[in-house]
Amino acid sequence: MSEDGGDGAALDEDLRVPSCERCPALVESRSRIVDGVGPTDADLLFVGEGPGATEDEEGEPFVGRSGDVLDEALRDAGLARADVRITNCVRCRPPDNRDPTTDELANCRGHLESEIERLAPELIVTLGKVPSEHLLDRSVAITGESGGVVDARLAGESRRVLLSVHPAATLYDRSQRDGFFETIARAAELSGVGDREGSGGDGQSRLGEF
Ligand code: URA
Repeated sequence: MSEDGGDGAALDEDLRVPSCERCPALVESRSRIVDGVGPTDADLLFVGEGPGATEDEEGEPFVGRSGDVLDEALRDAGLARADVRITNCVRCRPPDNRDPTTDELANCRGHLESEIERLAPELIVTLGKVPSEHLLDRSVAITGESGGVVDARLAGESRRVLLSVHPAATLYDRSQRDGFFETIARAAELSGVGDREGSGGDGQSRLGEF
């Protein structure tokens, strides 16, 4: 986050996608476009797959059951949701919770690249197989590779990427929970976000108290 504690809210408008009709199936299934949330100068960027039913209803990424797990892991790592940016590979809900198609991922890529370019984050965390494969442009065995850090050329530069299982994986397989929490703690450590004054961890940035 910027030194003056600004959260870049004004700049957030530039990263919004006001309308898009590129993916016919998604236009049909979505209620709205779900843009990324969080400071536009965040040092830590989480990238999920695409909005689910709750996100489609509420217009914000990771606000359903997966989001609860992510929030808990962030708190556990000493971070507040408000300290990080959270976005998705595709911004519209795929029908029947299916994975986005290759064409849909490609159609939405420019929005994600703009977000990465604007933030220039210290670290990008891919939440699950789909975003990991999309950003690394190779197949990923996510359970085995989760917790690993790699460099990837994104938005014109080499960027540090930490791979993670999707938070939903911890809901259908409890044995993945500790590993997921450890990966999020690693994200806090590598990005340095949790070390900074103003990082909450209690759901509120401490700068808001002043
Ligand atoms: N799963 C995702 O990948 N993204 C969301 O926003 C919610 C659930």
